[in-house]
Amino acid sequence: MARFTVLIAAVVLAFLVAVPVPEVTAKKYTVGDNKFWNPNINYTIWLQGKHFYLDDWLYFVFERNQHNILEVNKTDYESCIADHPIRNWTRGSGRDIVTLNETKHYYLLDGKGGCYGGMKIAVKVEKLPPPPKSAPVKNIGSVSTVTSLAQYVIPVSLFAVSTMWDVILRMW
Ligand SMILES: *[C@@H]1O[C@H](CO)[C@@H](O)[C@H](O)[C@H]1NC(C)=O
Ligand SMILES: *[C@@H]1O[C@H](CO)[C@@H](O)[C@H](O)[C@H]1NC(C)=O
Ligand SMILES: *[C@@H]1O[C@H](CO)[C@@H](O)[C@H](O)[C@H]1NC(C)=O
Ligand SMILES: *[C@@H]1O[C@H](CO)[C@@H](O)[C@H](O)[C@H]1NC(C)=O
Repeated sequence: MARFTVLIAAVVLAFLVAVPVPEVTAKKYTVGDNKFWNPNINYTIWLQGKHFYLDDWLYFVFERNQHNILEVNKTDYESCIADHPIRNWTRGSGRDIVTLNETKHYYLLDGKGGCYGGMKIAVKVEKLPPPPKSAPVKNIGSVSTVTSLAQYVIPVSLFAVSTMWDVILRMW
């Protein structure tokens, strides 16, 4: 019986160490949540508490005949000028994705209405924060994997080891 328990503990331990931890993928943000890309929504409030990292994406849903989504520079953003867009993110369906694949500020506005009803949003994109210095596991692949391993697998593994040890001691 005790040997069997040791076996179970060993299998559990092996599983915990070997199981691949799913990577945290890029986040998709629906701009405005269930109010989408529309006039009279305070996007400053929508932005509160949000952090955007490289390869996250913004999803804009809007009435395609009334609005669009243009990227402009800072000066034009502040004055709501849509005449010299850096990039036109509109494709025509009223469902557009802005891929945040550069670490910079993205200045986005509704060019059709000239920021009508405050339809503009400035998003700062940062690199993923570095892993905590205490993380003992290296070269696993990604920051999120290392963090997850450090946070979950290691304490659980230690628990499994101590349980195993306990069982081994009881066998004698
Ligand atoms: C949006 O909300 C922020 C923070 O509450 C406020 O400072 C700002 O004036 C609001 N903007 C508009 C257009 O109401
Ligand atoms: C933004 O673009 C406008 C028009 O092309 C230009 O006049 C202005 O200097 C630019 N501002 C910046 C910060 O690049
Ligand atoms: C943006 O691109 C869409 C789709 O190609 C096009 O219909 C629209 O006229 C363009 N808007 C601007 C301001 O360039
Ligand atoms: C970011 O994505 C856009 C649109 O998909 C693309 O045109 C651009 O080259 C990309 N930038 C980088 C740095 O990969």
